[in-house]
Amino acid sequence: MKVLVTGGTGYIGSHTAVELLRAGYDVEVLDNLVNSKESTLDNIEKITHIKPKFYKVDLRNYDETLRVFAETNFDAVIHFAGLKAVGESVEKPLEYYENNIGGTINLLRVMDETRVGKLIFSSSATVYGDQGAKAYDEKMTTGVKITNPYGWTKAMIEQIIRDYAKANPEFSATILRYFNPIGADKSGLLGEDPNGIPNNLLPIITKVYRGELSELTIFGDDYPTDDGSCKRDFIHVTDLALGHLAALEKMHPGVRTYNLGSGVATSVFEVVKMFNEETGEELPIKIGKRRAGDLAEFYANPSLAEKELEWKTKLTVRDAIKDTLNYLKNLE
Ligand code: NAD
Ligand code: UFG
Repeated sequence: MKVLVTGGTGYIGSHTAVELLRAGYDVEVLDNLVNSKESTLDNIEKITHIKPKFYKVDLRNYDETLRVFAETNFDAVIHFAGLKAVGESVEKPLEYYENNIGGTINLLRVMDETRVGKLIFSSSATVYGDQGAKAYDEKMTTGVKITNPYGWTKAMIEQIIRDYAKANPEFSATILRYFNPIGADKSGLLGEDPNGIPNNLLPIITKVYRGELSELTIFGDDYPTDDGSCKRDFIHVTDLALGHLAALEKMHPGVRTYNLGSGVATSVFEVVKMFNEETGEELPIKIGKRRAGDLAEFYANPSLAEKELEWKTKLTVRDAIKDTLNYLKNLE
């Protein structure tokens, strides 16, 4: 089976490419390298002994994207390519709408033109917004109370995919809503190493650990949780990658949507404690104000993916921290 991975040199895309190759799929990668490096392909090769064919293409360029599909008859596309920084999306909304939605519409137009009928899309649990719940399941409403343009691009793309599928009964799509991906491939050769100041908890922790940032600010210790910090559903990126393989193996006509999460919520203080235990050092922290838009506790009800995809997480937050530290060793 030939699979095109858009955004395949990025964090989650590269881990998924590795798992696809390990499982025997033919993988090709498309990425414009706006947030990743071509050298990731060498690391994919070191792990799997296969270097996927690579196209440095921006999905917003219809002609170049069409040329990629003219070269190979893909059976399926896994679509990771997009911009993902919540804060930046508030500052640059048009860039986010143009890139994420424009890129996806072009991709669908090219898939339509070349009759490629299977798509897996990287959505986010952010499409649920704040519904006053802790555990979120797929039956809950989406597209209300989303607080940033990034989240809206995900909700809008989901709708575009559903509308396209309705008009094209031979097309199937699986929408995967990720919770909080963390960790790294166990080889230590792939991981998350964003440029500049990162947005998410684990990359910030690693920058503090490596001395690139002076301290971690914990955004609020007065939430109604056991220890006062927020709780999130952290999912190891390898489990997440394997969720895509399960989705690919179990595609049905029409559109299916699944949460990919562990169903377990871990607090920010607990993550810091585990990190300290694994490094044997004390991460410098300070308690700051609550961050606008943060929910006290937010985790997946993952039972639909467990039932229909026969997938569930196997790795823990501690595994993800260990694998992240192993990856950092290789960066030094
Ligand atoms: P990433 O930035 O590491 O990977 C995305 C890749 O897409 C990058 O390599 C980037 O260069 C590429 N890209 C961006 N715009 C492109 C375009 N127009 N044409 C071609 N390539 C383009 O991010 P990631 O963490 O691997 O996320 C992958 C997907 O998962 C994204 O769609 C993201 O929104 C979604 N997601 C991520 C998280 C998370 O916390 N990491 C959570 C939920 C959903
Ligand atoms: N946090 C801190 N200090 C920091 C960074 C984060 O205390 O410097 C806390 C946050 O307040 C939050 C938790 O760590 O309680 C996790 O924060 P992240 O920014 O890592 O993740 P979020 O849960 O806010 O957001 C993530 C993704 C979004 C996605 C959202 C919902 O980054 O893309 O989950 O699924 F939309």
